[in-house]
Amino acid sequence: MIHFENVGLRYGMGPEILRDLTFDIPKKSFQFLTGPSGAGKTTLLRLLFLSLQPTRGLIRMFGRDITDIPRPELPLLRRRVGIIFQEFRLLDHLTTYENVALPLRVRGKDESSYKTDVLELLKWVGLGERINVLPPVLSGGEKQRAAIARALIDRPEILLADEPTANVDPPMARRLLNLFLELNRLGTAVVIATHDLTLMDQVDARRMILSEGHLDIHD
Ligand SMILES: Nc1ncnc2c1ncn2[C@@H]1O[C@H](COP(=O)(O)OP(=O)(O)OP(=O)(O)O)[C@@H](O)[C@H]1O
Ligand SMILES: [Mg+2]
Repeated sequence: MIHFENVGLRYGMGPEILRDLTFDIPKKSFQFLTGPSGAGKTTLLRLLFLSLQPTRGLIRMFGRDITDIPRPELPLLRRRVGIIFQEFRLLDHLTTYENVALPLRVRGKDESSYKTDVLELLKWVGLGERINVLPPVLSGGEKQRAAIARALIDRPEILLADEPTANVDPPMARRLLNLFLELNRLGTAVVIATHDLTLMDQVDARRMILSEGHLDIHD
C-alpha cells in the first residue's frame, strides 16, 4: 500500500533528519513507530500524510509515485489516510458531533447522509453521551477519542496516530489500544507513533524503530 525507497528528509538547510528509509506498509497491517524524542516520528507521519515532501528518494502510495501527483489531486489521496495529531486539533467552538462531522461537512455532504454514521462512530469510541458538549469540557481521554472518531469518519485505509496515549492513564491507554486493534481487525492499516513501552509490550506487533535518522524494523 505504501512503499518508501531511500527516502531522506531535511528541514530547510538543516541536517538530514531521516536518512535512507526503505520500508513497506502493507494493507491491513498493524505497527508501532518508536524511537527517542526528536528521532523524527512526527516527521515520518507527516510524510505518510503527504503534508511534507521528501528531499530525496521515492514514495509510492496506493500504487502511485507521489511526485507524479498533481497538487489538486492531493486532497483526494489524503482522504484515504486518517491522522490523529499529537495535540488533537479539535475546534473548541464546535460540539463533539460537529467536530467529527466536519471533514464531511466541508466537502458539502448533506447531513442526512452521514448523521447516523457519526453517531455510531461516537458510540463506538465511547462518546455516545458526550456528543453535544464542546471540547474544552472533555477530559484528555475523551478529546483523544473525539480526535480518533474524526480521523475515522471518512473510512481511511490507513490510520496514523501520533502519541495517542500520551495524555491518558494506563486503563484508558489500554482501551484506546483495543480500539486500534479492533479497527485493524476490520481491515484498516494502523501506525501508532509512541514512546510507551508498556503499550507496545501489550501486543506482538511490528516495530519500526527510528534512531539517528535510520529505521530498524522488528517484525
Ligand atoms: N518544522 C520544522 N522545522 C525544522 N526542524 C524541525 C521541524 N519539525 C521538526 N523538526 C526537527 O526534526 C527533528 C525530528 O522532530 P520530530 O518532531 O519528527 O521528532 P519526534 O520523534 O516526533 O519527537 P517527539 O517524540 O518529541 O514527538 C527534531 O530535531 C526537530 O527539532
Ligand atoms: Mg512527535
